[in-house]
Amino acid sequence: MSGRLAGKKALITGGAQGLGLAFGKRFIEEGAQVVLTDIQGGKVKEAADEIGAAAGLQHDVTSPEDWASVGARANATMNGISILIHNAGIGSFGDIETETLEAYRKVMAVDTDSVFIGTQACMPFLKETQPASIVVISSVAGIKAQSSFLAYNTAKAAVAMMSKSIAVHCAKRKYDINCNSVHPVFTKTPIIEPMVGMKATREEGEAALSKYIPMKRLGEPEEVASMVTYLASDEARFVTGSAFTIDGGMTAQ
Ligand SMILES: NC(=O)c1ccc[n+]([C@@H]2O[C@H](COP(=O)([O-])OP(=O)(O)OC[C@H]3O[C@@H](n4cnc5c(N)ncnc54)[C@H](O)[C@@H]3O)[C@@H](O)[C@H]2O)c1
Repeated sequence: MSGRLAGKKALITGGAQGLGLAFGKRFIEEGAQVVLTDIQGGKVKEAADEIGAAAGLQHDVTSPEDWASVGARANATMNGISILIHNAGIGSFGDIETETLEAYRKVMAVDTDSVFIGTQACMPFLKETQPASIVVISSVAGIKAQSSFLAYNTAKAAVAMMSKSIAVHCAKRKYDINCNSVHPVFTKTPIIEPMVGMKATREEGEAALSKYIPMKRLGEPEEVASMVTYLASDEARFVTGSAFTIDGGMTAQ
């Protein structure tokens, strides 16, 4: 299929690598204009040039000032914003006894506060460009707890509920803007490298993570891109306030 996002104008955070970059590539293949943003300014500019995005912008998603300028620039560059993908995210290893307040606050700022600040900043553009879609990249960690993911569990559960609140608000106001969360399991991007690296070889590292997944393999970024493309397209206009797992069966058990 192609052209499923024809005429769409997408702002994707965390687009320098990993999932955000995979979404950008797929969206362009499906006919959208794309602006990638990332805290790694040089890298996101290169990534944007490589995939033919309209721009690659330096952007700290925890900063309201950055959101104000990036939102306005993306809107001016694409003549609107009709897809907003909250993808930038970080993790932290720590349980209730070992996690530091500093690390906890950082994870909450990047993974959760950013969705509040960024959606609020972009609402005028989304309303102007509707039909529009907001997709929040949460995690299976927003559904299932692991003792050493205290901050990440908390942040990813919070954004799933925030997505529902945004969805219901838009529906009540009769905005044609849907909002959904996506919950991937371990997927092959740089974020899992510290966990893969805990074993002697890459094969053993990936096998150790896969053992928690009924399908016994890791996710591919392109698989998550397929789900996000659907949610960002007009095929999903009646789909809002929902949480979509893509996890090889992990949350089914
Ligand atoms: N890969 C997985 O296994 C997996 C599973 C579930 C959920 N997720 C989520 O998917 C999203 C994308 O992660 P990924 O796997 O591509 O990881 P990644 O580390 O490759 O990419 C995350 C990107 O976010 C950027 N970023 C970090 N802090 C930022 C900030 N303050 N402002 C702007 N950009 C910032 C990074 O520079 C990086 O390019 C994250 O929200 C992550 O929590 C990933």
